[in-house]
Order: sequence, then structure tokens, then C-alpha cells
Amino acid sequence: MSGIFSTKPIDTLIGETKGKQGLKKALNAVDLTMLGIGAVIGTGIFVLTGVAAAQYSGPALVISFIFSGLACFFAALCYAEFSSMVPVAGSAYTYSYAALGELWAWIIGWDLILEYAVAISAVAIGWSGYAVTLLKSIGISLPAAVTLAPGAGGIVNLPAMIIIGLISWLLISGVRGTSNLNNAIVVIKLAVIALFIILAVWHVQPANWHPFMPFGFNGVVSGAAVIFFAYLGFDAVSTAAEETVNPQKNLPKGIIYSLVICTLLYIVVAAILTGVVRYTELNNAAPVAYALQRIGINWGSALVSVGAICGITSVLLVITYGQTRIFFAMSRDGLIPSLFGKVSAQHKTPVTSTILVAIVTMIASGFLPIGIVAELANIGTLFAFIIVSIGVWVLRHRQPDRKRAFRTPWVPVVVPLSVLSCGYLIIHLQEATLLRFVVWFAIGMVVYFAYSRNHSELQKELAAEANKPAS
Ligand code: ALA
Repeated sequence: MSGIFSTKPIDTLIGETKGKQGLKKALNAVDLTMLGIGAVIGTGIFVLTGVAAAQYSGPALVISFIFSGLACFFAALCYAEFSSMVPVAGSAYTYSYAALGELWAWIIGWDLILEYAVAISAVAIGWSGYAVTLLKSIGISLPAAVTLAPGAGGIVNLPAMIIIGLISWLLISGVRGTSNLNNAIVVIKLAVIALFIILAVWHVQPANWHPFMPFGFNGVVSGAAVIFFAYLGFDAVSTAAEETVNPQKNLPKGIIYSLVICTLLYIVVAAILTGVVRYTELNNAAPVAYALQRIGINWGSALVSVGAICGITSVLLVITYGQTRIFFAMSRDGLIPSLFGKVSAQHKTPVTSTILVAIVTMIASGFLPIGIVAELANIGTLFAFIIVSIGVWVLRHRQPDRKRAFRTPWVPVVVPLSVLSCGYLIIHLQEATLLRFVVWFAIGMVVYFAYSRNHSELQKELAAEANKPAS
């Protein structure tokens, strides 16, 4: 039993990436910040803000964003320390392997499937809604049967499935091309947010900010638990470790810069949005574009819609990329079958795992409602943040002398704050979400003890050492 808590030495983790599977090293700090912003700004700010303001937070949406942003910031500091110490693909999964042992690593890896794969499906459904609305505004109406999932009044959500297919094809073509495209999209996304701010700020009516908390403080925290989705993805930066130049320096920079930039933009957008339009009116599929329409700037509204679609596309790109890299790391460790880690000689990308992720997420996005998938993605991410934060503290005790290019400040304060703030958000999610999470966790345990434990490379090494004749 003790083997399941064996940790993987960090030097082994770093060493085994050298020259073995051969991912291309091409990304720098600016690329990583762009990767982070590409993963973060999307469905959350462009779509979910409206629901959160109308149903939970009211004008105090700003406070919800600050609360979620703080929870992410504490976790980001921990991710940054880890990524500067263990710069290999796999993110939280790999960090837990080094700090807490194999069983925890497995739990996190399994949990990250919720964060990434489930989020891919949720974001694709959001993309589909936006694309359908935009098409409608130029006179092209698609029937509900092929644009909505069965639970939402249709038969299949085809646009969501198609966009996942396209994104996966891009990823298979190679990381550098993908990164250039991502950078271009991020610039468009930031430009439309700036446009919204510049156009709308003059139309803010402070009266719209009253009452500030129509659903009380609990409503504000529930709103924070929902719009947490808007921050999801900054940790995807760390999944690119093996494709990064000088990862010890560039990964922490990429993680923290992208989170700070997104948080500031969210706070400003939330304040202006609830100042321009009454919160009760924001419950629609395109609240940011709607606000511009309401103040009569239709051309601005159209531009923002196009930018939002581009933005949500780049979120898909980065999260899909992240999921395949996590599978890549888990398969290298033997915890999932080796076909997930196979890198194509031609493209130097994990083709098989990209295709598998595409198939599963296409099915989920085609046939499941967005509410269920978005909340599941949130709980998966919050749980991962908690484990990573604890892992940083554990490793400070177990390996105090190891070089850390980035050190999380005030660990005895930041780690508990991270755990408490993420935990507080978790208990404000719906009960059904908590239950689904427990079921997912239980299935993961079965898979670990039935398959992963017996195929683990680390367990094999430990067994070989134990069987060595004493010299
Ligand atoms: N944070 C990402 C979004 O808002 C997942 O779409």
C-alpha cells in the first residue's frame, strides 16, 4: 500500500523530458502570457457575466470578480512556484506527483479531466450560442434542432461539435502555428474589450448600481462561484512547460501576468456593464454586446460580438491543448495507456490523444446542457487549486533547499488563504455539482486501483529495486 504514496523525484521528472518524447521548444514569456489570456478571457466574461449579475450578484458582480480573482491569485502564486521548480508538461498533476505522491497525482490528473475536457465542452456550447445569435442578426437562422442539446430544446448542438473538430485539427498541425494564431486572436479579443470600455464608460448611470447587493452577500459569493469559470484556464500556461524556452523564469511570469491582466479587465468590464444596463436586463446570451445595443451603438455591438467569438475560440484552443498535454504526462508515467502519449513524428504533437479528446468532448458538447458542464469544470478546478496549494507547502518542508526560481511569498498565509477561498467557493456551488464530483472521484479510484497502479512506471521501478539481491 505504501507505494501509492511514493513521490516522483523532481530530478527524474525533469530528466525524463530531455530528448525522450521530443516536444518542440518554442514559447517565451510573451507567448505564455498570450497563451494564458487566450485560455482565460472567453465565455466567462462575454456570456456568464449576464447570468451571474441577473441571478446572483447584481451590481456587486464587481465584488464577485474580485473574490474569485483573489482565490485564483493565491493559487496562481503556488502554481508559479511549482512551475518554476518542475517545468514539465502536466501542470498540477506533475506537481502533486513530486510533492504528495502517486495516488494524489492520480486524483489530480483525474480531476483535471473535469477542469479541461469538461470545460472544452462548456466553452464550445457557449461559442455555439454566440455564433448562432450573430448569424441570426445577419439574417441566417439555423433551426433549434441542430443548434441545441436535447435538454435545451434541440436534438444535437452541431456548431459546438464542429468548432471542437476544427480546433483539434489546428492543434494537430503543430504548436508554433497554433501559438501564432493564438497571439493574433488574443490581440483581437483585448481590442474589443478595450472598445467596449471606451464606448460604454460615458454612458454609466450610477443609479444602476443601486441596490448594490440585491441578493445579499450569499448571492455575491454564489455569483463568484459561477463566474469563477471566467478565470479558469490561466493554469494551462504551466501545461506548456516542455515547449517553453527557459521555463523556470518564463512560466511564473506567464501565469501571473495573464491572471493580473484578466482580473483588471474583468473588474472594469463588470463595473461598466452593470452601470450601463440594469442588472435585471443582463440575463441573455450576449450581455456585453447587448449593453452597447441598449446605448444605441450597434456597430460597436457587432464588432464586440465578432471579437467575442474569436475570443471564445482561442479559449478552446488553449484548453484543448492543455488537456492533451496532461494526458501526455500521465501516459508517460504509465497511469493511462501509452497511446495517449504518442507523439507524431511528422507534426511533433500528440495526435492520438488530441483525436480522442476531440471525440469525447464533441459528444459531450453536442448532447449536454451548458449549466451542468460549466459547474463541473469549476469544481474540478477549485479542487485542483486546493491540492496544488497544499503541495507547495508540503514540498517546502520536504525539500527546503531545492532551487526555486520563483518563491510564493508568505506561504503560511497564502496557502491557507488559497485553500479557504477555494473551499468557500466550492460550498457555494449547487449540491448536484458536489454529488457529481463525488461520483467522478469514486470512478477515478476504481480506475486507479484496477489499472493505473499496476501499470505505473514508478511502481515498476520500486518493485525492481525491492527485488534487487542485496550486495
Ligand atoms: N475562462 C474561460 C472562459 O471564460 C474558460 O471561457
